[in-house]
Amino acid sequence: MDVQEVLKLADDLVFINTGKHLDNLQEVILRGTLQGQKYSKIADESHCSEGHIKDIASALWKLLSEVLGEEVNKSNFRVRLEQVQLSNLWNFNKDFVHIGNVNFCENNLHSSKVPNSSTDEEPLNKGNTEPQLRQFLAEMPKSGIFYDRTSELTTLKQWILHENTRLLAILGIVGIGKTALAVHLVEQIKHEFDFIIWRSLATSPPLSILQTNIIQFFCRGGAPVPAPNADGVPAFGRGGAPVPAPSPEEEGATTGGLPLLNYLQKYRCLLILDDVQMVNSTGQLAGNYQPGYEDYGRLFRQVGELSHNSCLVLLSSETPREIAALEGKNQPIRSLQLNGLGAEAGEILREKGLTEDAKFSELIEQYRGNPLWLKIVATMIQDLFNGSLSEFLSDDPLFLGDLESLLHQPFNRLSESEKQVMSWVASETAPVSLSKVPENLQLSRSQFLQVMQSLGRRSLVEKIQEGDRTFFTLEPVLKEYVKTNYSRPNIEKEARSPF
Ligand SMILES: Nc1ncnc2c1ncn2[C@@H]1O[C@H](COP(=O)(O)OP(=O)(O)OP(=O)(O)O)[C@@H](O)[C@H]1O
Ligand SMILES: [Mg+2]
Repeated sequence: MDVQEVLKLADDLVFINTGKHLDNLQEVILRGTLQGQKYSKIADESHCSEGHIKDIASALWKLLSEVLGEEVNKSNFRVRLEQVQLSNLWNFNKDFVHIGNVNFCENNLHSSKVPNSSTDEEPLNKGNTEPQLRQFLAEMPKSGIFYDRTSELTTLKQWILHENTRLLAILGIVGIGKTALAVHLVEQIKHEFDFIIWRSLATSPPLSILQTNIIQFFCRGGAPVPAPNADGVPAFGRGGAPVPAPSPEEEGATTGGLPLLNYLQKYRCLLILDDVQMVNSTGQLAGNYQPGYEDYGRLFRQVGELSHNSCLVLLSSETPREIAALEGKNQPIRSLQLNGLGAEAGEILREKGLTEDAKFSELIEQYRGNPLWLKIVATMIQDLFNGSLSEFLSDDPLFLGDLESLLHQPFNRLSESEKQVMSWVASETAPVSLSKVPENLQLSRSQFLQVMQSLGRRSLVEKIQEGDRTFFTLEPVLKEYVKTNYSRPNIEKEARSPF
């Protein structure tokens, strides 16, 4: 990046987060820094005292550190901005789909005319009778062949469009179809929203970067920058509703406000975040944020609790902690646990060239109707059994093949105690109850229950209700994976190798 590009990016970042452009002296300091000048030289050239330049510079580094969520100073300023530029998150031009007549972003970002609070209240389609739809969906996969899920789509539409659900999680194990379902949901309800934005958290972006990037979309879509109040807490609710002050717990969770909330309150937005589990830690129980990512929890909580007409949809293989704590039938915070497809999954098998329809239900049951697992296993049946489902089922219905590497992904995220418990459940022939902690696990009762709850939040254990008693088991594919991959020193059964 040349000096001009770095300065422009710094100006954009500051503008998006504060509503103000860099002033002349701030720009001179940044330019001097990029050219390796000392503060004394910058002070001489700008006819100020060195002390004054140092004060302005120090405030500027603090501001940029807050915007980027990591320390920015004189020596790392260029590197930090180059990192932002390199992250896909900043590179949005290709993402931009604007159905409307004006691209306001050039005005908003790069002119010195900063929108003031009165323009905040102006409709987006000022001077244009056509409603404007702003979609930023470059990270949304293209919709493909899609079977069933009618009832899930009906439920989701009911929650979002008629029950004002503000925070919604679509949960389920890898490959079950969370992303595909959300893609179809977006297609069906996009006209109900002012803005639709899809972002993936697969690269674990810090919230500050993601937030800045999303705000950039609003800016590109012509939304004036709402001015946050002094402490950065959203200043207005839709229809002028007062916004509750954050609880002390929320206040303590991080410093600084969340400017994104201003936009979610001001416009009706559908914001989808995919792969949300990637901001969680590995090696710990489900729902623990990675160090430095706790702000996501604050965002989710505030989106769920504050007054607005937007909806944040989280797609995740782990239940976010805030969803677990706050969801409820009469709450604006909900979750949909996605199960496998039913007989319709036979279409996936037909599409892969399998023909023995009478055997489809057995295969679908073994792989729990998981569309990705069925695609993988159908390919394997073609490759190894010349498409003969009968031969495959009689040989070894639980051959994992390529599924094994797919499953490493969720299993590598488990804590040691979760792995132990998975080994124990897999070794049992019957579903287990939680009445007694198995001795070989060396877990207290409370730890044991926490672990089971965590495995449930990862969709890794199946719950079975028998009368008023609850039992847990593993679905066949997961059982086979655990037996094949985990050593179980305290458990007598031998792992069964697929080879
Ligand atoms: N209802 C469906 N009908 C047909 N194919 C489907 C359906 N749902 C999902 N698929 C296919 O199954 C595969 C996995 O789906 P998807 O990527 O949506 O799963 P996911 O739950 O988001 O997985 P991950 O946890 O890896 O993100 C994709 O190829 C998708 O096209
Ligand atoms: Mg997905």
